Amino acid sequence: MTLLKAVRGTRDLLPPETELWNHVEATARRVFSRYNFGEIRTPIFEDTSLFARSVGEETDIVSKEMYTWDDRARAQSEKSQSLTLRPENTAGVVRAYIEHKLGETGLLQKLYYIGPQFRRERPQRGRYRQFWQIGAEVIGPPSAGSESPLRDAEAIEMLASFLDELGITGWTLALNSVGSATDRPRYIAVLREALREVAPRMCTDCQRRAETNPLRVLDCKVPEDQPIIETLPRIADYLDDDSKAHFAQVLAALDACGVPYQVSSRLVRGFDYYTRTTFEFTHGGLGAQNALLGGGRYDGLSEMLGGPKAPGIGFAMGLDRLILTLQAAQTESAPALAEAFIAPLGEALNTPALVLARDLRRQGLRVELGDGTFRLKKSFEIANKLARNIVLLGEDEQRSGILTVKNFSTGQQTKIPATELARALKNS
Ligand code: HAM
Repeated sequence: MTLLKAVRGTRDLLPPETELWNHVEATARRVFSRYNFGEIRTPIFEDTSLFARSVGEETDIVSKEMYTWDDRARAQSEKSQSLTLRPENTAGVVRAYIEHKLGETGLLQKLYYIGPQFRRERPQRGRYRQFWQIGAEVIGPPSAGSESPLRDAEAIEMLASFLDELGITGWTLALNSVGSATDRPRYIAVLREALREVAPRMCTDCQRRAETNPLRVLDCKVPEDQPIIETLPRIADYLDDDSKAHFAQVLAALDACGVPYQVSSRLVRGFDYYTRTTFEFTHGGLGAQNALLGGGRYDGLSEMLGGPKAPGIGFAMGLDRLILTLQAAQTESAPALAEAFIAPLGEALNTPALVLARDLRRQGLRVELGDGTFRLKKSFEIANKLARNIVLLGEDEQRSGILTVKNFSTGQQTKIPATELARALKNS
């Protein structure tokens, strides 16, 4: 029989690696709460048209990478529905914002999420078909200040503080403005016109993009195309005064908080919903998939989905990639050891050992429990791998309430009354 394996592009996360995942997630929750963000959890699948309308029909994600299926009706009264595993979370958050009328509070909504996303991409290091994002969105009516450049700077500064707190250094922040809903189409028209002449000399992907989604040409990594791309019109020259002023204020606010950045006129990012500020943090240690996180403003997205005017800005970090970066920087750390391994000396002592373990765990200790069928030698061998101390629970110990404890690092064996055991083990 062929053995079943995790599907290509998906993987299992096992301890001790999951401890690092929990650490990163806990750090995000801690840092984000200081900026007054609350957690949102949206469904893992949504109506397909949500992504088609927000991310954009012509994007790689929607045209090639979504896991979409026809969810058949189960009763005559039901209709079948096209559903999709979420390839990203911004669309789901904005749908929820509209559905729950969060705009009516008149306040800015500051929401973060941690969860899996799904894209049918070619798997490689740092690129998976099920991957994890930690993201955040700041969205609200214009009267709540949602359009302010301060919001962009605050979100980016939060990211810099978060990476700092995790100990990730050596990142690069690239920043651009892709203009408003009016200047962006103007630029796209000029770009399309310019591409008409040069695209035939470019790679086949660019030839296709020149027609379907000209902005994506700017993302092309093919070396031969680079000199051609350098000659194309730049979006910065097509921004209206409002967009220019907005971007200048974002940059000035970042300067004031000491967040280093590079302005990159080619950073357009792969979603249709972006307007004005777009940004990406990259890390050299990641190899080909070097984008640690990406984000930007989406001032018209709510309206694209039939909602009220609700400008917003957000970002998503690739959790898998944060972990890769941390692992590369980490020297091999010893796995965390339990404070005690309790070895019942005989099957009759299994239940008293279970009770003792419960008492110690309730006092906050990390405890591993042996089994009375083990020989003493085997108990010592296992305990030595998992714990700092072994606690022997035989009939004598049970009767006297005084336990025999051996500390593996000092080699010392001592007798400790059960009432003092937790304190002694904690200090060991
Ligand atoms: P994105 O750039 O598509 O943006 O994804 C954000 C991050 O998710 C990337 O920088 C990368 O670290 C990670 N990522 C993307 N695809 C994969 C993959 N196949 N395997 C591993 N990691 C991956 C968004 O998703 C936007 N929703 C971000 C946003 C939020 N913009 C505004 N608000």
